[in-house]
Amino acid sequence: MKVFVTQLIPEAGLEILRRAYPDFLINAEERVLTRHELLEKVGSAEALLALLTDKIDMEVLDAAGPQLKIVANMAVGFDNIDVKAATARGIMVTNTPGVLTDATAEHAWALLFAIARRVPESERYLRAGKFKSWGPLLFLGSDVSGRTLGIVGAGRIGSAMAMKSRGFNMRVLYAGHSPKPALESEIGARKVGLQELLRESDFVSLHVPLRPDTFHIINTDALRSMKRTAYLINTGRGPLVDEAALADALTNGVIAGAALDVFENEPAVHPALMKLENAVLTPHTASATITSRSKMAMMAAENLIAGLAGRKPQNLVNMEVWK
Ligand code: GLV
Repeated sequence: MKVFVTQLIPEAGLEILRRAYPDFLINAEERVLTRHELLEKVGSAEALLALLTDKIDMEVLDAAGPQLKIVANMAVGFDNIDVKAATARGIMVTNTPGVLTDATAEHAWALLFAIARRVPESERYLRAGKFKSWGPLLFLGSDVSGRTLGIVGAGRIGSAMAMKSRGFNMRVLYAGHSPKPALESEIGARKVGLQELLRESDFVSLHVPLRPDTFHIINTDALRSMKRTAYLINTGRGPLVDEAALADALTNGVIAGAALDVFENEPAVHPALMKLENAVLTPHTASATITSRSKMAMMAAENLIAGLAGRKPQNLVNMEVWK
């Protein structure tokens, strides 16, 4: 039974795998495999434990071969996997929902405060030795309390982000497919269309999965709909935002700022964004707490083991393959 793990993951997950499959194979380096390496290493695997940095498409599935039964992604998002192609081949795909919800929502809040109160920018200033005196005009930022928070996609993470606004007494708007009665009754959140959310919010936070219908959901028009004083926060997926349009909007004062954990062509970041002081940029670390990443690794390992053992994995994404 060949089980292949595409990159070093937290020990808690490896430990679980080791017990079930002592001979599992792993790329034990802390780097993404090149396309060529990936295609070569998946050959004859029955199970893959993959990361969001691995593009698992038809070519990879075919390179693995017809014995491949499961791709267990160590991420809640699975836009890196061609699920349709996997389903057509009867291959199970699993993800790791739930265990990174709070960590990711907390990071979205960290980004929100970082951009609103200009934390990285003012820290750079201080470290550069420029802090000579307290100043009444020094690094004025935006209030958070009492402002309007717009949640685009009120699923697990979007809802957690919304709930955590309680201490800041915010008006919360959300846009999405389904009503969220708990958000409405507990924090008075209101479901609105995307346009109204963009028009009304002081902070717009993205939490929808990346799909063809959410690609560039934030484009030039969407940015123009936002207030000039508003901030964009993205902890979802980079391609939700047209990065060139965003860089333009930030340069020209169309919106006040953006805080991004994900990028359109990761790990590349649009060069204009790199130069802007009104952008806060983190390297896709929203779920990066010790606990969350351990739990994600354990969950992916357990999904993989269940799938290989003929049990239905807890987090099966493509139910159609389960007969
Ligand atoms: C991280 O981006 C994830 O989808 O888990």
